[in-house]
Amino acid sequence: MHHPHLLKQAAILLFCATILQTAVAQDPAAKTPDGPFRNGMVVCATPNASKVGLDILKKGGNAVDAAVAVQFALAVTHPEAGNIGGGGFMVYRSAKGNTNTLDFREKGPAAASANMFLDSAGNVVKDMSLATHQASGVPGSVDGMVEAHRKYGKLKWADLVQPAIDLARKGFAISRRLAGSLNWGGPQFRKLNPGKTYFLKDVAWKEGDLLVQEDLAKTLELIRDKGRDGFYAGKVADEIAAEMRAGNGLISKADLQNYHSVWRNAITGKYKDYKIITMPPPSSGGIALLQLLHSVEKYPLHRWGHNQDSTVQLIVEAERRVYADRSKYLGDPDFYKVPVDSLLNPTYLDNRMKTFNWNAATPSSSIQPGAFVGYESDQTTHYSIVDKEGNSVSITTTLNGSFGSKILVGGAGFLLNNEMDDFSSKPGVPNMFGLIGGKANSIQAGKRMLSSMTPTIIEKGGKLFMVVGTPGGSTIITSVFQTILNVIEFDEDMQQAVTSKRFHHQWLPDQVNIEKDALDPAAISKLEQKGYKIISGGASGRVDAILVTKDGYYGGADPRGDDTGLGW
Ligand code: GLY
Repeated sequence: MHHPHLLKQAAILLFCATILQTAVAQDPAAKTPDGPFRNGMVVCATPNASKVGLDILKKGGNAVDAAVAVQFALAVTHPEAGNIGGGGFMVYRSAKGNTNTLDFREKGPAAASANMFLDSAGNVVKDMSLATHQASGVPGSVDGMVEAHRKYGKLKWADLVQPAIDLARKGFAISRRLAGSLNWGGPQFRKLNPGKTYFLKDVAWKEGDLLVQEDLAKTLELIRDKGRDGFYAGKVADEIAAEMRAGNGLISKADLQNYHSVWRNAITGKYKDYKIITMPPPSSGGIALLQLLHSVEKYPLHRWGHNQDSTVQLIVEAERRVYADRSKYLGDPDFYKVPVDSLLNPTYLDNRMKTFNWNAATPSSSIQPGAFVGYESDQTTHYSIVDKEGNSVSITTTLNGSFGSKILVGGAGFLLNNEMDDFSSKPGVPNMFGLIGGKANSIQAGKRMLSSMTPTIIEKGGKLFMVVGTPGGSTIITSVFQTILNVIEFDEDMQQAVTSKRFHHQWLPDQVNIEKDALDPAAISKLEQKGYKIISGGASGRVDAILVTKDGYYGGADPRGDDTGLGW
């Protein structure tokens, strides 16, 4: 069903990303949060962006104000994934319990078409959906931030963009991790950007070097002064269109003008006493998370214990079935009727789990998507914010690959996404995360590519309980799932739940990827005897989360990155 050479390519990508992740250390400035905090908290991928968010909260901004400021600050300080040239999703819950989600996912340009990444023989052209101008969807992040602020923001827009402008213009000292990422991306930056880019230096980047991004500062000034029109019209739109013309890209000025983010009702579900509020399609994340939680709810996970063989076996079997469904039924709901109710039907999910046998792994070849009518370069990023009143925001945003397509818009100084790879280029052929898809997620003009991003908010007893999410491509869903179980079933505090080692199965390829030392040798051997293929590898995801207790807010900032939690 899938191409061995593409799987190999996905495995190599995973391997490279893993090396990249494990070879670089966390920024010493990164901060594991103390807590409890009563007045607000921000947990995100860089110390500088967390500080920007905290300052906004201290100035009287609400969670959405802080989120807007963090989004722009991450575009400067976390160029691998923070972005204005990408897209994302926001899940929002007001202090009173009203919920909403904002879909600012990128869209296929008007000139996009189903077979655009195939050669004349009908084969997928290697890297065409990843490292070319055609790889970019129409960016949604700036419109998303404008829209979120218009609906919920309290402070002045300009004051939320300004901190990012200052960071871009004055520069900031880069972490060891970012130095490693920039050195890793160097050859591609050189190849794909004929002009000068500030991501290239004559010598290797090292920790503490100053990264100054003057062109980005100017673009952010236009966004500060003109809002949406600072990006989707005028100088920046001209520059994007010129960049596209120069590189045979598809995004036109009309595509930019026509881009609008969409408010969608959150999808909600229950797990024991908890209400899960999460992202609907075009993310697969929310539906898959609810399917997974229901699939394991009846089993005594608490008694079996964290990462014990029975726990892992049950979770893997649930994941296998859920990712099979994902491959067939999930796509942009504006183009494809996603059978949400059927996928979340409790009887359907119970019946799916009935085919599982404790004595032996279910081969993925015997599981097909239900019948009713990655790998990771990990370069997505998540942030969780709660303010003094208890309004909360869970945002995951992405360029897709590390530094997206690695193509900077000439003159405008920001990176373009390579999100088109999240579409299914050809039925059954895996994308860079090893995920396969078909009609539901085929490429179409104006359609949003399917995502795994799973920004989530949880209530207990009608009150805010947790804000959670992570990057990690196809592993996003399983990392969020495990973090929730770590708290609810395994009594871990927020930081432990984030730090705990994770594992992942996604139906195809039929293997369990585990972080190094995630399972003890006895558990591995029991699972292997039952036919599970266990592959030990590098870090998976970077979860940033906040837990609300009667004492206040506690954060979990992922030590796998430079992630930092700050509160007051
Ligand atoms: N680009 C990764 C995702 O949206 O799932």
